[in-house]
Amino acid sequence: MASKEILLLVLCWGLVVLATTSFGANVTYDHRAVVIGGKRRVLISGSIHYPRSTPEMWPDLIQKSKDGGLDVIETYVFWNLHEPVRNQYNFEGRYDLVKFVKLVAEAGLYVHLRIGPYVCAEWNYGGFPLWLHFIPGIQFRTDNEPFKAEMQRFTAKIVDMMKQEKLYASQGGPIILSQIENEYGNIDSAYGAAGKSYIKWAAGMALSLDTGVPWVMCQQSDAPDPIINTCNGFYCDQFTPNSNNKPKMWTENWSGWFLSFGGAVPYRPVEDLAFAVARFFQRGGTFQNYYMYHGGTNFDRTSGGPFISTSYDYDAPLDEYGLIRQPKWGHLKDLHKAIKLCEAALVATDPTYPSLGPNLEATVYKTGSGLCSAFLANIGTNSDVTVKFNGNSYLLPAWSVSILPDCKNVVFNTAKINSVTLVPSFSRQSLQVAADSSDAIGSGWSYINEPVGISKDDAFTKPGLLEQIKTTADQSDYLWYSLSTNIKADEPLLEDGSKTVLHVQSLGHALHAFINGKLVGSGYGSSSNAKVTVDFPIALAPGKNTFDLLSLTVGLQNYGAFYEKTGAGITGPVQLKGSGNGTNIDLSSQQWTYQTGLKGEELNFPSGSSTQWDSKSTLPKLQPLVWYKTTFDAPAGSEPVAIDFTGMGKGEAWVNGQSIGRYWPTYVSQNGGCTDPCNYRGAYSSNKCLKNCGKPSQSLYHVPRSWLKSSGNTLVLFEEIGGDPTKISFVTKQLGSSLCSHVTDSHPLPVDMWGSDSKIQRKPGPVLSLECPNPNQVISSIKFASFGTPLGTCGSFSRGRCSSARSLSVVRQV
Ligand code: GAL
Repeated sequence: MASKEILLLVLCWGLVVLATTSFGANVTYDHRAVVIGGKRRVLISGSIHYPRSTPEMWPDLIQKSKDGGLDVIETYVFWNLHEPVRNQYNFEGRYDLVKFVKLVAEAGLYVHLRIGPYVCAEWNYGGFPLWLHFIPGIQFRTDNEPFKAEMQRFTAKIVDMMKQEKLYASQGGPIILSQIENEYGNIDSAYGAAGKSYIKWAAGMALSLDTGVPWVMCQQSDAPDPIINTCNGFYCDQFTPNSNNKPKMWTENWSGWFLSFGGAVPYRPVEDLAFAVARFFQRGGTFQNYYMYHGGTNFDRTSGGPFISTSYDYDAPLDEYGLIRQPKWGHLKDLHKAIKLCEAALVATDPTYPSLGPNLEATVYKTGSGLCSAFLANIGTNSDVTVKFNGNSYLLPAWSVSILPDCKNVVFNTAKINSVTLVPSFSRQSLQVAADSSDAIGSGWSYINEPVGISKDDAFTKPGLLEQIKTTADQSDYLWYSLSTNIKADEPLLEDGSKTVLHVQSLGHALHAFINGKLVGSGYGSSSNAKVTVDFPIALAPGKNTFDLLSLTVGLQNYGAFYEKTGAGITGPVQLKGSGNGTNIDLSSQQWTYQTGLKGEELNFPSGSSTQWDSKSTLPKLQPLVWYKTTFDAPAGSEPVAIDFTGMGKGEAWVNGQSIGRYWPTYVSQNGGCTDPCNYRGAYSSNKCLKNCGKPSQSLYHVPRSWLKSSGNTLVLFEEIGGDPTKISFVTKQLGSSLCSHVTDSHPLPVDMWGSDSKIQRKPGPVLSLECPNPNQVISSIKFASFGTPLGTCGSFSRGRCSSARSLSVVRQV
């Protein structure tokens, strides 16, 4: 009987979704909500950035978003991908924006298109193409004609493209909202009056494009009418829009936080995320977007920063690989259902706030026609409190919100998780080197040495030290600064040669110094300070000495006022210091020779096709500047694949010619500051909950399945510092070899049971249900931890102070 009821409910839910996502509607707004086809809507949205996954992954990501209760998918548009060279556009493959939007529409979901075109997003240069920097007289993001002309041209291009494909809701398509600019209000004071007029211009320009759907500006308290100003942050319940005619909207609810090379891994407990969402709807919000719902991967050299890692997992409800992250995904799904049960009351009226007591808040949405929904919050961080509301008692755990769709029964509490926890497991296998790979050295690998210093014809010589980004135009991470200089035998510096120090100051982001062809040291900055200052002890010889300094960028700056002016590279001084006798030779203003990029980049080694690969001599290991290549079979099965780069130093990797991004497993995070588990009670911040301290920030690097053939795949690595490629391995990630759940007597009934007669008549106890995540799996055994006060987390439960010895036999009978 019980299962029948659940089945019926599921069918009902499907019908509701279908009925509410018919497109072809007029989209407007009023003070309560976005209004679609004349109906105010409560909308749950989630960010998926299309280039951070593959077209093959999109349908599954979108379906899992829909199953998780989303109505809207939000994405930025990435200008630097679409227009890598001025007036030359690319909308293919991972950049196929139209295809992405159409897939979202096919799933019956809406789209919020955040065109920007400045997007921040931990994306290289905030999404701007580098060529923009070289337009004469340009100043970014201010009242500057050359900049405005380019911004308008690209924005209009995207809008036209969407219009041509009839993708705006006003044309029958899924796009219900668009964003212009991004969080300009956070930094506009630095631009003075020109910033103010720029925002007015941006608003007017956007409106003139006539999309037929509303525009938003996030974090822009002076957003000109009719543009809606929206909130971004970990909490937005206290936010109010700048006009009574605008709805309260939250465009970025950060579901976790981004990872940097050198940093620990941030995570956000779902109890706190759910609390933030419930508080927002409690206090009048009607549109909320998770940034990110699926974070994905910064393939290629797309990560910004500097120092943003290749993984952009973000602790999102769908993990980097697109797998469901539990209990996050499930708890939020329950939350969304609970909020939707209140939708009719929420959109019908403004709330009232009957008093409950200190740190407590009751909010009631009650209509004349008898609809009533309520939220009860305990915003205290320490004590659970029992409150009286409408004559009934409710236990409110600290830092939690209870949702009462009928103003009486609790359907959901943000701190009480009904969803299962799935523990992912990783299977490791060595690289299956294909039998036909020419391999005279027994390792399965071949290699090419990248020359130290200048090797390309386009190298040039200039006096003094050049800023890197202007020099390379970001065509490559690499810029060689090379100098040969004669050191006279009677140079005082040589008197104590072993104590000479090479002193280099660089704006960042990393540096490898070679003297007379030998690596003497590496230095790198961090996400909080990109600058590099090094003092390497060196030994100079009388006569000619060669200084080859390889300077690198690790993702260009993406945030801040005037961020595009942040330079990189060796701006000096570069000095030779005789530590024994105080002598100092400044090399900064000498004639330096410059080379953008590597010889191997020029010769397209990443494709693997060169004839220069050496498989006859001993494989170099732990040596700098080596290209490696192997051929391998894909790991069996269909699970997501990653390469574990442990054993390598720093570089970039390509699979079948496609860059899977920068790898840097040797950049280890600091030892202290991690809290795992983390107390979800109390205000969250980006460094509150960290894990993985003292370990490599990122060792696993996603290789999308669709980039692999079953056999004969090519893997190319460029290693900068030194590594042993025979140590790397494949990892596949699975869900569901074990799952856990727990329940307390104060848990509400599962939200799916709302509306069954059980709610009103019988009051059964809380329910715990276990279900395998994949249809082809069966439950093979159940382990019962304890009835009492069990401790620990999934996979490592222990008995607490109180435990009932007889409870297992009772559970067995049920
Ligand atoms: C916001 C920005 C986003 C993203 C986020 C942090 O300020 O709008 O694009 O950078 O921060 O992940």
